[in-house]
Amino acid sequence: MALRTVSSDGDAAAPDETGNAVTGGRPDTDLRPAQRILSSAEAVERMTARRKGKRGCYAMFSSYLGGVVTDPEVMTVPLDDHMVHRGHGVFDTCSLLNGRLYRLGIHIDRLLASAAGARLRIPWSRDELIQMVADTAAASGARDGIVRYWLTAGPGGFSFMPAECEEPCFYCVVLDPMSFGSGSFDPMVDGFREATVRETPMKPPLLAQIKSNNYLLNVLTHLEAADGGGTFGIIVDDGGFIAEACVLNVCSISADGVFVTPPFEGILHGTTMRRLLELARGPLCEEGLLCDVQQRPLRAAEARAGAELIMSGGDTHVFPVVEWDGAKIGDGTVGPVAKRLHDLITSETEAGDGSPDDFIEVQYLL
Ligand SMILES: Cc1ncc(COP(=O)(O)O)c(C=O)c1O
Repeated sequence: MALRTVSSDGDAAAPDETGNAVTGGRPDTDLRPAQRILSSAEAVERMTARRKGKRGCYAMFSSYLGGVVTDPEVMTVPLDDHMVHRGHGVFDTCSLLNGRLYRLGIHIDRLLASAAGARLRIPWSRDELIQMVADTAAASGARDGIVRYWLTAGPGGFSFMPAECEEPCFYCVVLDPMSFGSGSFDPMVDGFREATVRETPMKPPLLAQIKSNNYLLNVLTHLEAADGGGTFGIIVDDGGFIAEACVLNVCSISADGVFVTPPFEGILHGTTMRRLLELARGPLCEEGLLCDVQQRPLRAAEARAGAELIMSGGDTHVFPVVEWDGAKIGDGTVGPVAKRLHDLITSETEAGDGSPDDFIEVQYLL
């Protein structure tokens, strides 16, 4: 097909007497989208209209801008930031609950480990990163939400070489809490129906352990799971062992009360699963709900025969799996270990109980 070219004088869109923008003598309505040259005011106006009523993002900090913005139309990342076009960026997420940042330190530690794995040059200390996240949360005014932050190679060009980047960047956003399922679905009552994921390749261990912006395989894992009636998908390796789910870790509870989760080698070092391991070894063993807690390779066949299967992530998500590939797990209902772990996590996050390091009080501006 022969391409029609943009008229040479079509570099500005001025309004005609009826108010329609005119480019190169042609009314705006006659132009194909890629023929319209928008002024920055028009671009912002269009972005404002498009972002109106979208799911909440309360605030964004950008080290590149040197400040926080709260208008969604200017919550942007430069296209030439190598995170955007090369995936050379890492991220992490923590929860904002009742005005407190929950376990931000452990998330920042993993962010820094991811940055080291991605060979990003980072000019900020751990404390400075924590401060920037806490300041963004304060500026957002939100008391509950998800806080996600990225360390990136930074803007500077479109090659693959980070040497061209001007400066590393830090971006942080405060988002509305996410809900899973629809309508009246309650994970702790209904449980999840999951599907095995075998076709989508597993990440090589290096990428699985760096929480990088290369989440294509995670998305494909979800899509394969959805094809099979699941949501997060349970990844089973060629040897028949469970790895993880697309954005969650997995553990199984045997019929005789043994908690088993796979080692973190080759999967993400989940912060929630690390907390569940502590709670399982502590209160759940003391209360007799569990008799042992093991971190070792877990065969899919063993988990299928178990009493409970639980996925965890995002600090507070303890997601029971009640059916896997169409077969019930245990009696097909949400089990006592999942319920107890969920109660413990919910009460500690709501009340702010636990080590002071695990809770940072946000200093709101007003
Ligand atoms: C691949 C993968 N596995 C596991 C997890 C769970 O990690 P966490 O408990 O730290 O949220 C995540 C979270 O994003 C993930 O992306």
